[in-house]
Amino acid sequence: MTDHRDDEIPQWAAHELGRVIISPQELHARVAQLGAEITRDYASRPPLLIGVLKGAMVFMSDLMKTIELPVDIDFMAVSSYGAATKSSGVVRIVKDLDAEIAGRHVIVVEDIVDSGLTLNYLRQYLGARSPASLEVCALLFKEGEQRVEQTIRYTGFRIQPDFVVGYGLDVNERLRNLDGIYEFTGTP
Ligand code: IMP
Repeated sequence: MTDHRDDEIPQWAAHELGRVIISPQELHARVAQLGAEITRDYASRPPLLIGVLKGAMVFMSDLMKTIELPVDIDFMAVSSYGAATKSSGVVRIVKDLDAEIAGRHVIVVEDIVDSGLTLNYLRQYLGARSPASLEVCALLFKEGEQRVEQTIRYTGFRIQPDFVVGYGLDVNERLRNLDGIYEFTGTP
């Protein structure tokens, strides 16, 4: 249970946060809808969810519990070279998949699509390993920021291009444990 109202900022981090972008309650409701959609779409072909660490871990953990199918999960960790709050597009694989994905129905679970460069790289990398199908489920999509055209099958929320934290999203590894999504106004 949360101990604050929808429109409240958690006190311990309030000095670094601006607006509430998505409240915990809105997140939980939307994640359940995405899970229901995936349950319906993948009924005949249970999916392999690939979470992109570390940002997608909270979303992945909530999402998988709302899918009423026998899903498998795996994780990749990628890191993007460059400044703290912008993707450079040069992606380095820090942790590769544990299992083969050939012939599997893969859903890449991402926290946020900003420039789209990370996702573009992952799509090419995973696509080359012959999955039976490859779709993306992104919790957040930053409007107007894309440098690479993307087809995203499942999108949680479209947001303005502010830098946001919480629900897995960090600033220099901090603030991932906030239960909602908030605008970051502090110093990175
Ligand atoms: P892209 O390659 O520009 O699409 O950036 C994607 C990655 O950048 C995400 O997976 C996040 O790790 C990070 N990122 C982009 N925007 C934000 C943000 O507002 N807050 C926290 N991380 C972000």
